[in-house]
Order: sequence, then structure tokens, then C-alpha cells
Amino acid sequence: MAHIRTILGVVMAAAAATMLVSPLLAGAEISPAEAQGMPNCDITCGSMSVPYPFGMGPARCYWPGFNLTCDRRSNPPRLLLGDGTLQVQEFSMSNWSTFVTVIRTGDIKVDGNGEGTLGGGLTTNGPYTISSNKLILLGCNVQATLKNSDVIVSSCSSFCKNGDRLSHVRSTLEEGMQCSGNGCCQSDIVFNPAEVAGRLFNSTSYDVQLKWFGWNRSTDQQWPAHVFIARSRWFSGTSVFRKLLRTDAPVSADAMQVPFRLDWEVVGHGAEGSNVCKSKHSDYLTGKKGYTCSCNHGYEGNPYITDGCKDIDECNNEGSAKCYGYCTNLDGSYYCRCPPGTDGDATLQGGCRTPITSDCITSCGDIDVPYPFGIGSANCY
Ligand SMILES: *[C@@H]1O[C@H](CO)[C@@H](O)[C@H](O)[C@H]1NC(C)=O
Ligand SMILES: *[C@@H]1O[C@H](CO)[C@@H](O)[C@H](O)[C@H]1NC(C)=O
Ligand SMILES: *[C@@H]1O[C@H](CO)[C@@H](O)[C@H](O)[C@H]1NC(C)=O
Ligand SMILES: *[C@@H]1O[C@H](CO)[C@@H](O)[C@H](O)[C@H]1NC(C)=O
Repeated sequence: MAHIRTILGVVMAAAAATMLVSPLLAGAEISPAEAQGMPNCDITCGSMSVPYPFGMGPARCYWPGFNLTCDRRSNPPRLLLGDGTLQVQEFSMSNWSTFVTVIRTGDIKVDGNGEGTLGGGLTTNGPYTISSNKLILLGCNVQATLKNSDVIVSSCSSFCKNGDRLSHVRSTLEEGMQCSGNGCCQSDIVFNPAEVAGRLFNSTSYDVQLKWFGWNRSTDQQWPAHVFIARSRWFSGTSVFRKLLRTDAPVSADAMQVPFRLDWEVVGHGAEGSNVCKSKHSDYLTGKKGYTCSCNHGYEGNPYITDGCKDIDECNNEGSAKCYGYCTNLDGSYYCRCPPGTDGDATLQGGCRTPITSDCITSCGDIDVPYPFGIGSANCY
């Protein structure tokens, strides 16, 4: 049966408990079907399970570029990605939607020229892109531009009206939590696949450029600008900015746990749809720069490993099959029929009826009376 599942992992950074606790930091579970790795590879880090093509340890345990590290010295253990500054919070590899949610600590630091980089050690020709996030900028009379290589992938500008006091901007943001151009702006990150094909593929980093455009830059800079790459609902879903803007005890942006999504595709090293999607009953999709896989209709599991896609037992799977009669699981599907002695549609509640018996009158003069109409006792109609 068609289904969409999100695999959730648990993260509770010890530090996060004392800082900003977002609902995301409360964990959930990974499905056993998808938490499959290569043979003899450790796939557990604390309460998280690592599905191939991700992996830890020796190179045979992951597809090149998908290496993770489990930091077991921290309590609970932390699953790390990239250069180790990104913490994995959630995997998703369901039905073409393949991403990993990671947490980065702090805002993006810019130098005196307003230049900064997302960092994270996302490697050249690597599997990740950051397209499913927002660029978020907090500041006065400043524009932020996000580039991948020389291609602009997002930009927004935040204005503070002439004469606006900083405190006014603050209260606007605090009350309405609006981030729509006044003191704060946000913008989608957009990749044009045609450009991705040639130029972005090899790019190592995402660079941020800030430009102040107000009349009095020193006034504008009294309120330091902060730039984030974050999941689309991070701004509205948390009290991050309220805390950041508090005048009595502002939270340091350095301490913020910022979640964002890394879309991933299997790339390089001879990747073809057929050798990436190793499981029977799986199919591949050509993405921006590589391949992703999905188990076929009626199967679930991990399409990236041999025999990873397993038949769904629709008859014993709450929410997948709707069978109100006798259910028989088949390879890749199921068969639903009415119990003996009844007929009708077993996929509908009350769909199986005792059939018309010979006692029922099925015609009246020249007119046939077809079931569900009937004449006579109640089982006739
Ligand atoms: C995958 O998602 C698409 C739409 O996003 C849907 O049409 C399709 O049926 C889904 N396939 C499976 C196997 O769930
Ligand atoms: C992954 O491998 C690269 C290259 O060997 C290494 O630089 C990086 O630190 C590794 N990352 C993790 C999280 O293990
Ligand atoms: C990107 O890298 C591939 C192989 O790593 C190379 O063949 C290609 O020429 C590079 N493209 C650009 C635009 O640098
Ligand atoms: C710019 O702002 C600073 C700090 O508020 C102030 O001291 C200075 O006089 C302002 N300059 C102009 C030209 O208004």
C-alpha cells in the first residue's frame, strides 16, 4: 500500500535542555524496516538507528560521502555529520523525500566585510543540498545574499523605517513574531536544476554576504545582524527571536540550536539508478545531481540494500489495508473477500451481505427487481 513515513531519531543535546528547547528536540522512533545497514556494521548511536546509505565506521558501511560518527563521550551519544559540527536529528528516506535534519549551533558568523559561510564540512561532490530551508536575517537596513559557488540561491532585505527606534522594531517582532521585512526577513532557497547540473555540483560551500544600505550604518549596526539557514517553520515555531531580542537577558545567538534540512542524493562513485537501488521491488528517481530510491507499492523498508524492501503484510497493518472480510496477504499486495455465505464489497464496512435467497421475489409482473432493491423479508434488500 502507498504510505509515507518519516523516520525520526532522537536528539536531546544535553546543552539544549538548558538553552532553547524546540519541539523538534523531543525524539521519536526509526522504523525497524528502514533501519537497515550493511552486514556487520554498527547502525546504532544512542537511541538513533542509521539507515544505509548512511553508515559509521569502516568505508564498507556507507556509500562514499555518507559517513557519520557517533560521539559516545557525550550523554546521550550524538550522531555527527560533515566535519562534526552538524548533529543528525532525523532521517527521512520515504517515497522520494530523502533528507536528514541536522542541528547547527549558532548563527552564521560574518567578518568585517560582511562575508561568512555556512560551513559544516559539506564536501565537494557530496550528496547534500540545502534547498528545503529558509535564509533568515535579523537586522536593520541590511541585505543578505546566499550563494552556492557563484550562483545566488537566496536573498532578502530587512528595513527599519527612518527614525524607527530599535526598541520599536524589537517590540514589533516580539509581539507579532512576524519576519516579513521589518527588522527581519526570510526567503526560500531556490536551486535551478539546470544550473545545478553543471555548476553547483562541485561546489564546496554556501557563502553569505551581508550589505548594509541605510543612511547611517553605525546606527544600523548597533543591533547586530544575525543570519541563519533554518527549516522553514523554525522562525514561527519557536520563541528563538523573542529570546534573542530580550533586552534584560538576551540569549546568545552563539548558543542557538538551529535545525535545518539537508536533502541528499546518492552521487558519484559510479552511481547509477540500478546499482544504487539494490533491493528487489525498488525503483529509482533521477534527482538534481544523483539518485534516490523508493520501495515499490506494497513494499516497505530500505531500497538501498539487497532485499531491503519487504512485503507489507496489509492484513496485519493498521491503517494500510481496509478489509472488513477475509484478508489474505500476497507478495506486494493483498486479497480481500467476503466471508463464505456472503457477498458484496469487503473493503467497505458492512459491505458483505447475505445474498438474496430463493425466498426473495425478484420480479413484479414484467419488471425485474435487482438487488439492492427487493421484495419480501429483510435479507432480500
Ligand atoms: C509517492 O508519492 C507520490 C506523490 O508524492 C504518489 O503519487 C505515489 O503514489 C507515492 N508512491 C508510493 C509508493 O507511496
Ligand atoms: C567523513 O569523512 C571525511 C573524509 O574522510 C572526514 O573528513 C569527516 O570528518 C568524516 N565525517 C564524519 C562525521 O565522520
Ligand atoms: C566537477 O567535477 C567532475 C568530477 O569530479 C568533473 O568531471 C567536472 O569537470 C567538474 N565540473 C566543473 C564545472 O568544475
Ligand atoms: C550615526 O549614528 C551615530 C550613533 O547613533 C551617531 O552618533 C551619529 O551622529 C550618526 N551620524 C549621522 C550623520 O547622523
